[in-house]
Amino acid sequence: MSPPKKLGILLSGRGSNFEAIADSIQSGRLAAEIAIVISNRADAAGLDSARRRGLNAVLIPSKGRVREEHDAEVVSALQQAGVDLVCLAGYMRLLSPAFVRAFPHRILNIHPSLLPAFAGVDAHKQAIEYGVKVSGCTVHFVDEHLDQGPIILQKIVPVLESDDDHSLAARILEQEHIAYSEAIGMVLSGEYEVQGRRVVRRQRSVEAR
Ligand code: GAR
Repeated sequence: MSPPKKLGILLSGRGSNFEAIADSIQSGRLAAEIAIVISNRADAAGLDSARRRGLNAVLIPSKGRVREEHDAEVVSALQQAGVDLVCLAGYMRLLSPAFVRAFPHRILNIHPSLLPAFAGVDAHKQAIEYGVKVSGCTVHFVDEHLDQGPIILQKIVPVLESDDDHSLAARILEQEHIAYSEAIGMVLSGEYEVQGRRVVRRQRSVEAR
């Protein structure tokens, strides 16, 4: 059997998506290993959580630094840890082109809306204010543009008349926690092709099963 694929997780805050991924691995639902967790913020709760779990948790502060220099340091830490896939989990920074080029179609992000609707910050507030009846979450490959790479998976969440951005965020978050591990599993399986903007699932051949 081949060794488990290595994930690098990047986060800036609470880290609930990171925890959901770690839980999926621990329970055997996702065949992978978290090789490194990197935060750009010292006060990220996700960083503490990674330390408590005994993971390789690293702080690489971004405040006041030139993006390219900070990114180069992050890329080097990810490469040293030997990661196969980079997962942005509430990492609130745009990646430089050099970062994206270092991991072609190997960086995933999760966003709390049905992209291309409501990209950027305050996605839930944008959805409520626009008056949409459904929203959800999107896991996508990261390219050089904000929230724009090819879409791997989306989950739909109804927007209720009683919703405010907090209640909507809470229900979308439940789906994010399911969606991210599912998307990582699919990408690690290699059973897909990126055709332009479309991520198309490929059936495994009978011999490979
Ligand atoms: C999540 O809702 C994630 O979708 C969002 O930040 C939150 C992080 O929560 N990401 C973005 O808005 C990226 N554009 P977490 O720290 O508990 O995983």
